[in-house]
Amino acid sequence: MKALEVKNLKVVFPTAMGIVRAVEGIDIEIEQGECVAIVGESGCGKSVTSLAVMKLLSTPPAIMRVDKMELGGVNIKDLSDKQMQKVRGKDISMIFQDALTALNPVMPIGKQIDEIFLAHGNLNFETDGEGSEHKHFNRKKEAKRRTIEALKLVGISDAEVRYKAYPHQLSGGMRQRVLIAMAFACNPHLIIADEPTTALDVTIQAQVLDILKNLQKERKTSLMLITHDLSIVMNMADEIYVMYSGKIVERAKTRDLFVKPLHPYTMGLLGSIARLDDERGRFVQIPSSLPNPMHKPQGCYFHPRCQYATEKCKQEMPCLEELPGGRYVRCWNYKEIEHAKR
Ligand SMILES: Nc1ncnc2c1ncn2[C@@H]1O[C@H](COP(=O)(O)OP(=O)(O)OP(=O)(O)O)[C@@H](O)[C@H]1O
Ligand SMILES: [Mg+2]
Repeated sequence: MKALEVKNLKVVFPTAMGIVRAVEGIDIEIEQGECVAIVGESGCGKSVTSLAVMKLLSTPPAIMRVDKMELGGVNIKDLSDKQMQKVRGKDISMIFQDALTALNPVMPIGKQIDEIFLAHGNLNFETDGEGSEHKHFNRKKEAKRRTIEALKLVGISDAEVRYKAYPHQLSGGMRQRVLIAMAFACNPHLIIADEPTTALDVTIQAQVLDILKNLQKERKTSLMLITHDLSIVMNMADEIYVMYSGKIVERAKTRDLFVKPLHPYTMGLLGSIARLDDERGRFVQIPSSLPNPMHKPQGCYFHPRCQYATEKCKQEMPCLEELPGGRYVRCWNYKEIEHAKR
């Protein structure tokens, strides 16, 4: 049973200026306990994809179509908003980039985590004929106990004291830990983390990623990790999807992708990592930027930036070809490019 299976997800935004095709038919498969990373430049459609999977996209303005969307084997495609509210926080949860906007500014962080346990945490005890007031008290006490345990798990010291803190009284790294604690609170099948550490300093970023990784491995939770930065997924992801202008252009096991990228765009992304330690500057730089989402080029969307582009690339969009070994690439010329690189 897969933690997540999505087939042919499409999202468009009709605007006064024209139609923005943000996500153009992508498939996602995440096994239980696996970490899948979705990587690509700003504007390629990563956040729209994650919001679509959480069913948090406002429709309208967005128009969303999907052939299949299953969470832990359960069809969530046709669930109503109300039914989806029960699923969120319990079976699927999300870690956002900006903890300050994700948290309620006027409620202590401990109470915010309590609410998740109270809503989804199975806190109903037998009360031996005691009154409902007593039962209510017990539930609250148990929620608080679990919250403090959850805060300790994400490395927050003085958890009893921090329980009462308001979001603005915590550092950025602490707040991100709180979001992680919230996401794991009810042991969901799947956590979606959208740029969970981009707003943090490099050292804090590494600490927070470590916590996320360790909890994910320990609980065997599936993780969809979204980032523009390939270097942070190297040690975390089992599989990587490279996204370009609303489409997946390459998909491979992490090691395979780093050892032998097949798509010129992936080569470019990896090139910008190599730059750090390669003094001779042998990296492949990707010129210019993503196409305008309202006027995408004919043919392969990457062709205007691709040093290997041929006439066919300018005319026809390649399909995402499945190759032996469970990898996928969307490029007419990947074999020739590989040959030329040797
Ligand atoms: N409400 C909206 N109305 C119109 N266009 C939108 C809307 N939301 C997103 N888009 C467009 O959809 C495309 C994908 O956006 P998305 O936010 O998913 O990018 P992203 O990959 O998450 O980028 P970033 O790395 O900057 O977060 C972009 O072209 C964006 O402008
Ligand atoms: Mg985004």
